[in-house]
Amino acid sequence: MSNLKIGLFGYGCVGQGLYEVLLKSKNIKAEISSICVKQKNKKRNIDTSIFSYNKWDILNNPDIDVVVELIDDAEEAFSIVSESLKRGKAVVTANKKMIAENFRALIQLQETYQTPVLYEAAVCGSIPIIRTLEEYYNTDYIQNISGIFNGTSNYILTQTQQQGKNYEEALHAAKIAGFAESNPTLDVEGFDSKFKLTILLNHTFGLSVLPKQVLNSGIQNLNKTDTLFATRFGYQIKLLAQAYKTDKGVAAFVLPHLLRNTHSFFHIYNEFNAVQVEGIFNNKQLLTGKGAGGFPTAAAVISDLSSLIKNYKYPYNKLKQNDLHLDNSETIAIYLRYNKKEIMNQLKFEKIYSQFEQENHTYCIGEISIKEIIKADINKNKEVFIASIELPLYQGSDLPVKTEQILSIH
Ligand code: HSE
Repeated sequence: MSNLKIGLFGYGCVGQGLYEVLLKSKNIKAEISSICVKQKNKKRNIDTSIFSYNKWDILNNPDIDVVVELIDDAEEAFSIVSESLKRGKAVVTANKKMIAENFRALIQLQETYQTPVLYEAAVCGSIPIIRTLEEYYNTDYIQNISGIFNGTSNYILTQTQQQGKNYEEALHAAKIAGFAESNPTLDVEGFDSKFKLTILLNHTFGLSVLPKQVLNSGIQNLNKTDTLFATRFGYQIKLLAQAYKTDKGVAAFVLPHLLRNTHSFFHIYNEFNAVQVEGIFNNKQLLTGKGAGGFPTAAAVISDLSSLIKNYKYPYNKLKQNDLHLDNSETIAIYLRYNKKEIMNQLKFEKIYSQFEQENHTYCIGEISIKEIIKADINKNKEVFIASIELPLYQGSDLPVKTEQILSIH
């Protein structure tokens, strides 16, 4: 494929970034022929003759060989991608929800119509993780993959913990900067990270699951007491996605984490993302870069476009190698801050290390299985903040929890 003619869907932050970057890029033979958008009357920053308001104008245009899909609506995005592939038009997409929810169907469509879909921009913006997993880590030696997959949450956490901003102010700034989803609950409640993790499970372990099978909780209920607790004991709170091999399969979840300053992600700030891959032989490797924003995400789209020119498609190596299952029986250590004691009856802890009760801060540190947290439907409870915590607990300090007895309830 050469001299790509692009039909672009969506002209938001990333679409505009792509338009600008393509104008400036001398090394890629690609041009945008048409841009399909929803709103006819919206003010645009370029000549409006390039816009179309009917998706079939692009899909049925024989001169367009690649569709770049950058819209919000996952269902509509899947329809656009399917119709493009049926017409032999290769696709580049950044729509993590659409990919995560339709992963197997997308593979089937690619096989049936012998037309590729590339989506490096869907996971961690500018970080080249998908092709790295497919091409560099093309064996099944990976034990663990984890990361900061959501720029908006990381931006909010940095601004609240480092800059003393309040949550609302920080979220507003993330929206203005174009990091946040149009529905930012997807960012702050960990859904966006989970979609990305679900995609990576396929490329890391050959594990195909639906996002709804994977635990996620986010920073939406984080309050001052949690931040003070973290700061006082030398932790930083980061929203992490994690997946690792267990005896029974692969444990995978998205939760805020209380990290010590020795952790690889401790110093990843603002909209930066990071991915750490840990293998049997290579030990830990860290990739970091901007995970959100128009230009960084557009850079990943451009990289996919240049791969299409070289006829690249994902080999899906791990899907052919592995037969692993999701292991939600895995036990993890958590910090749980709550207001009402009933939550302790709902959540079946395997061990409780410490419980601390004060008028304005009641918390517990213990071990619990992933499936118990899923069962308690924790996201619905506005009075609870849950985070994975790095143990051992507070060694060598005089913290209140040290005076508590370690209780075991099983
Ligand atoms: N809303 C996403 C984020 C954009 O904040 O990371 C990039 O996927």
